[in-house]
Amino acid sequence: MKNKLTLLFALTLIFACNVPRQATDIKEEVKEVIVEETNAPDVSSTSPDFPFTTNKVLMGEKAMVVSAHPLASEVGLEILRKGGNAVDAAVAVQFALAVVYPAAGNIGGGGFMVIRHADGTNTTLDYREKAPLAAHRDMYLDKKGDAVAELSRRGHLAVGVPGAVAGMIQANAQHGLLPFASLVKPSIRLAKHGFALTEREAKRLNGQQEEFTKYNSHTTPYHGTWKTGDIIVQADLADVLQRIYDNGFDGFYGGKTADLIVAEMKSGGGIITHEDLKKYKAVWREPIVSEYKEYNIISMPPPSSGGIVLSQLLNMIEPYPVSEWGFQSTKSVHLITEAERRAYADRAEHMGDSDFYEVPVNQLIEKEYATKRMANFDPKKATLSSAISAGKVLEESEETTHFSIVDVQGNAVSVTTTLNSGYGSKVVVKGAGFLLNNEMDDFSAKPGVPNLFGLVGGEANAIEPEKRMLSSMTPTIIEKNNELYMVVGTPGGSTIITSVFQTFINVAEYGLPLKDAVHNPRFHHQWLPDKIFIENDAISQEERATLEKMGHQIEKRGYIGRVEAILIYPDGKLEGVADIRGDDSAAGL
Ligand code: DON
Repeated sequence: MKNKLTLLFALTLIFACNVPRQATDIKEEVKEVIVEETNAPDVSSTSPDFPFTTNKVLMGEKAMVVSAHPLASEVGLEILRKGGNAVDAAVAVQFALAVVYPAAGNIGGGGFMVIRHADGTNTTLDYREKAPLAAHRDMYLDKKGDAVAELSRRGHLAVGVPGAVAGMIQANAQHGLLPFASLVKPSIRLAKHGFALTEREAKRLNGQQEEFTKYNSHTTPYHGTWKTGDIIVQADLADVLQRIYDNGFDGFYGGKTADLIVAEMKSGGGIITHEDLKKYKAVWREPIVSEYKEYNIISMPPPSSGGIVLSQLLNMIEPYPVSEWGFQSTKSVHLITEAERRAYADRAEHMGDSDFYEVPVNQLIEKEYATKRMANFDPKKATLSSAISAGKVLEESEETTHFSIVDVQGNAVSVTTTLNSGYGSKVVVKGAGFLLNNEMDDFSAKPGVPNLFGLVGGEANAIEPEKRMLSSMTPTIIEKNNELYMVVGTPGGSTIITSVFQTFINVAEYGLPLKDAVHNPRFHHQWLPDKIFIENDAISQEERATLEKMGHQIEKRGYIGRVEAILIYPDGKLEGVADIRGDDSAAGL
């Protein structure tokens, strides 16, 4: 009874206050209850009614979580209901996705978190993977000096030092309200008791069997012939999560888990050591904040290219009457393509981890710089990209993942996290049951040689020990007239930045409802290869012919992005939209 009253008291305070409160105050108030609850026997269902209902569009009065999996969104909501704030919910969702969405959710990868507090202050957390201490510039080159894609994309040598667990601990310690362990708890439950596979996941796992066998000497929890509704149990992963629950940082970067990671590395020619793991630190960084008309766009700085390129794109299109031209009109597609061509060329040359390379951030995001870059824009003709030959953008499944959260107090969190490609390096740590990333491929293995996403780079993004590889992940929060307006992000490798950009202007410029802004087909250009990639029928045949006459090359491809977005209305109501391109689902209060 006493506990219930304490919880009621704490929740009343949280819900009643409009101003953000000191994390420590509330942490103490709710601690007692939560600890008791987490030790209590599990009564909540581990596999809610299957098939799961996915909410693609959901209105909320107070709070919203949108993620790539209905169970993960439910976990986020559960934490918000217990009095956690958006940061707590984000931490719990990150862990939940590591269990229910192993293709991209992770503890063996990394990501970025953008936070906007209810009082308008903001920050970002970088928990991106790092190159191991033994990494070196030419580690993916053969004797002739050619880059060997296989080495940076698959298997043990492709793995960067994971940042996800350190990131979650940092996020909770600085900005959370609930005890960290209580945020790991729901995932232990899901890993231990299992959950039902959706049709998509069952298919995806079946499609990876050869790779799992090739890159693992042991039978992983993902081996098998899966069908919709099968329950997948991840006992070793549950034990790792339990160690994180018990010991925090040392539960992953030390002790048994670290021993298992290092043993796995040794067994397959990987180079991550105990020292790499012990040294890993997540870093708080100032966001890139750009102004576009009455909006402020708060996004991720280096080692992501996302915030800078997004800002450049907005600056480049700002002088043009795009809303008059209309959504996906020839004029709009041409302008956006030309802006993307220029911004992505800058990405290749100037962007990398700013702890190691001086990224000219301020210059790149200046409006005058955008004007100069667009000086040779020809409204009638495509500008040719440089003649440097770039590889084809591979159609690897799009397996980063994004989630957007707004809590009762109005705090907003935008997180994009990844193993890089689907199931990362395909290596599962023996005895620990989680997948390791293949993030090292995001470095430029050799100047001008395209990575998995066809992106090229040079000095700025060359491999160095402890450096972070350049990312395109663009978790973003947007204000309109200084009030919280949109929380948005997506997976999609190089296409991430354009998908975030398009979702925003679809609403802000073309006046689309959020649902259409997220669900409509998209298009993308990244300087090299010199092509507009279009998703399905993003552009009509007639328009395509016109663009081709203007000098554009156009290629159809599969899905571009899986956007999870929340729009905040002036009356405080929240609209959550989950992408139709996956099992994504919104959960709200
Ligand atoms: O950080 C990056 O930019 C990439 N590792 C993201 C990979 C990704 O989005 C995978 N999905 N296609």
